[in-house]
Amino acid sequence: MFLFLSLVVTVFILTFAFFIGCYNERYWKKRGVLFDKGNNNIIGPYWEFLTSNRALFEIFGDMYRKYRNEPAVGFSTLFAPSLFIIDPKNVQYVLQGPMFIDRGVDYHKEDYLADNLLFMSGDRWKLMRQKMTPLFTPNKLKNMYNVIDKRTQDFVQFLHKNPEKQKRNTLDTLATFCCNAIGDAVFGVRYASKFVSPFLDISRKAFASSWWGDIRFTLSSVSPTIFKAFKISFFKEFERFFIGAMKQVFRQREKEGSKRHDFSDICLSLQRSGVMKHEETGFQMQPTDELMAAQAFFFFTAGVDPTAAGVFGAMIEIGRHTEIQKRLQEEIDEAFYNNNGELTYDAVIGLEYLDKVLTESLRIFPPIGFSTRRCTETTYLPVGNIKVDKGTKLYTPVYSYHHDPEYFEQPHVFDPERFSDDRKQNLGVLYQPFGFGTRICIGMRYAKLQVKSLLAHILHNFNLKSVIGSGGIKFGKDQIQLRIKNVDVEYIPRKLRR
Ligand code: HEM
Repeated sequence: MFLFLSLVVTVFILTFAFFIGCYNERYWKKRGVLFDKGNNNIIGPYWEFLTSNRALFEIFGDMYRKYRNEPAVGFSTLFAPSLFIIDPKNVQYVLQGPMFIDRGVDYHKEDYLADNLLFMSGDRWKLMRQKMTPLFTPNKLKNMYNVIDKRTQDFVQFLHKNPEKQKRNTLDTLATFCCNAIGDAVFGVRYASKFVSPFLDISRKAFASSWWGDIRFTLSSVSPTIFKAFKISFFKEFERFFIGAMKQVFRQREKEGSKRHDFSDICLSLQRSGVMKHEETGFQMQPTDELMAAQAFFFFTAGVDPTAAGVFGAMIEIGRHTEIQKRLQEEIDEAFYNNNGELTYDAVIGLEYLDKVLTESLRIFPPIGFSTRRCTETTYLPVGNIKVDKGTKLYTPVYSYHHDPEYFEQPHVFDPERFSDDRKQNLGVLYQPFGFGTRICIGMRYAKLQVKSLLAHILHNFNLKSVIGSGGIKFGKDQIQLRIKNVDVEYIPRKLRR
């Protein structure tokens, strides 16, 4: 009896899945859009993601190459047809369009830390984005710079005193620095605090690949409705510690009454002003500790994971291009020399060659491989006149554009001069390590400042040597990120400095 029942259920599920796949395929065909069956007609590229060791951006990369000249290609994500947009005009339309402001992530009400700026939708996102934007004004960044600079100097001392850290696990060590720097500059949390080390662990785990993490991510992507209905949480395990820690930070700041004009000060000032209200939409939200902690949670995570990846990518390229490294060190040494052995905010901003090197390394290794949006109002894409229904999830390339030979000649060659004044072109969506349009990374300027300051101090003190394992650079199996594997960078103390 049991065997018979199992057989009936299996046949039912398979037949149902078959019809879902056919429905999704017909759905796109009716709109004149090619459909990618890949090796699964039910959850499209997510099947390969779950069953292979490849990062999702690499799987989208295959689709990009296969349909390179199409305006977009459809695929199946369970009950909802999804669209991978390829033509840059269509991508620009999506990333800038008011009918695509949602990222397309759903979460249930009690998953408090998921209620952050990255995941929020609609009016909720608009209001929070408006309230958080003042955190990264040029003046605030200038204030934060002094703290970043101090933490960077600590990091260099740490490397000098711990020669074993100069030889391996570079990315891990960089993450420790990033955690301290953002903790102090943005939240006013110091290195010695108990708060830091568990947080470093959290920021590593929050978006890391694991069997359950990948299934959860897949389910949230292919069926946000089921995900929400079953009350599956993204970040429940971190909630107790993180919200508790942020509450402590807020209460301590209230007691001290200090004015650092950082994230914690902004949160307290929002709480003092009562209900938050968006001027145009009239949408309201209460700035509770939980809501503020959720914003802090993602800022912290972003300040550690993609930021460390951004520095690491640059170090790999610098460490395998001696001439570029030498030229960079000359520029950096000169800046230190002209500022009495220090590196001021203006000096970092003035490091033009470093800027080009970082811009190019973020092209080669963008820490995030693709973007997503959800359509909130039925519309037509300009190229191909493709009808996009409300609720459709859209995917747009990042890594694939950066490595397309039509847009970047010899894309695998590391050439910072691509971004020199005489060769620079207006790349628009073709270059977007920090995303593009309405939901572009809010921490971009902060991240660039922190990365440049760190690279400048490192290169003033050390030579870099990249050690690449056999088989070349590889990428880890990851959800949206690009995690560089099979390579490390050694720090070799410099003897002679000006
Ligand atoms: C090198 C480091 C970083 C990289 C490469 C990076 C990249 C990105 C990308 C690609 C997005 C998605 C943009 C889009 O969909 O168009 C994003 C969003 C975001 N990033 Fe970053 N990021 C970095 C550092 C940071 C830092 C340091 C913070 C905060 C302190 C931050 C906060 C955010 C937030 C809040 C969002 C969501 C914005 C929204 O949806 O409105 N990021 N980032």
